[in-house]
Amino acid sequence: MIDKIDALLKEVESFSAKTVEEAEAFRVKMLSKKGEIPALFKDFKSVDPASRKDVGMRLNQLKQAATDKVNEEKDRLAASEDSGSTQRPDMTMPARFNPIGSRHPLSVVRNRINKIFEKIGFVISEGPEIEDDWHNFSALNFPEEHPARDMQDTFFVEKNPDIALRTHTSSVQVRVMENQQPPIRTISPGRVFRNEAISARAHCIFHQVEGLYIDEGVSFADMKQTLLYFAREMFGEDTQIRLRPSFFPFTEPSAEMDVSCNICGGPGCTICKYSGWIEVMGCGMVDPNVLDNCGIDSARYSGFAFGMGIERITMNLYQVKDLRMFFENDLRFLKQFESAV
Ligand code: DAH
Repeated sequence: MIDKIDALLKEVESFSAKTVEEAEAFRVKMLSKKGEIPALFKDFKSVDPASRKDVGMRLNQLKQAATDKVNEEKDRLAASEDSGSTQRPDMTMPARFNPIGSRHPLSVVRNRINKIFEKIGFVISEGPEIEDDWHNFSALNFPEEHPARDMQDTFFVEKNPDIALRTHTSSVQVRVMENQQPPIRTISPGRVFRNEAISARAHCIFHQVEGLYIDEGVSFADMKQTLLYFAREMFGEDTQIRLRPSFFPFTEPSAEMDVSCNICGGPGCTICKYSGWIEVMGCGMVDPNVLDNCGIDSARYSGFAFGMGIERITMNLYQVKDLRMFFENDLRFLKQFESAV
């Protein structure tokens, strides 16, 4: 028995594994239930009582030595695998591909609009999507019986007092004017809601950017120049604009701004419906009633405002034919904007 123990101890001491699997095989051979060492423990009964103490001690030493050896070998091999010290990285391997998402086209265009106005000193402001009647309608000079207040257009959250989802981002200009005295230069991008049937050209949720400029002596000419600058930055330096008379309760005079068609450049095509012009926004001089409603002295200050739909501009820039595409999250559509930032 003692000879056998000594022989196994020697084997344990000289053992060295090249792989984790080898170390495990050694553990099985020595220490598993049917292994060499448990077999010796079984035979221990037959050892004569006089030498039992000595044999028992050696047997326990052998078991401990084998256990320690297996653990040491496994730790050593695992550590060298981690540090990569035994293997050099393969520099010819292709790089690991980390897919990243792309910005939504509406975000791309909104960011561009923001940047264009930030360059000339406008700051971004935001307001709530759930609005009261005052900020969405009354302060903006909408008469009590104006059709836009009708259930057909507005999603009401509560009646009396009226709380609704904002129908335009013009509500934000009211909030800015209530909290700030001129000079004011701000743009307010955001989501708006209208009770419209969903089609290729209309949706009940869409996005607008509102602009507001108030100071002493601001004129219609200032507005025209600001919007021409915007149109050229957005659609290209050869872009022309035209202003057509229009009506909004909160501006006087009011206009609709068209830009020259960036597809055909003038003669007419299917995109501009053979008119050479594309409608992009409403604008006008802020009605003195609105200034007074918001605590700004209309005798001293004047200003202009404008509002545009981000969907419409995006459809025009990227030739998107159906507005519903923006809300469907179809990856085949969204992936086409990967290179846009
Ligand atoms: N709020 C208008 C709309 O939703 C857009 C608009 C038109 C905003 C003229 C303005 C403006 O600030 O001056 O259709």
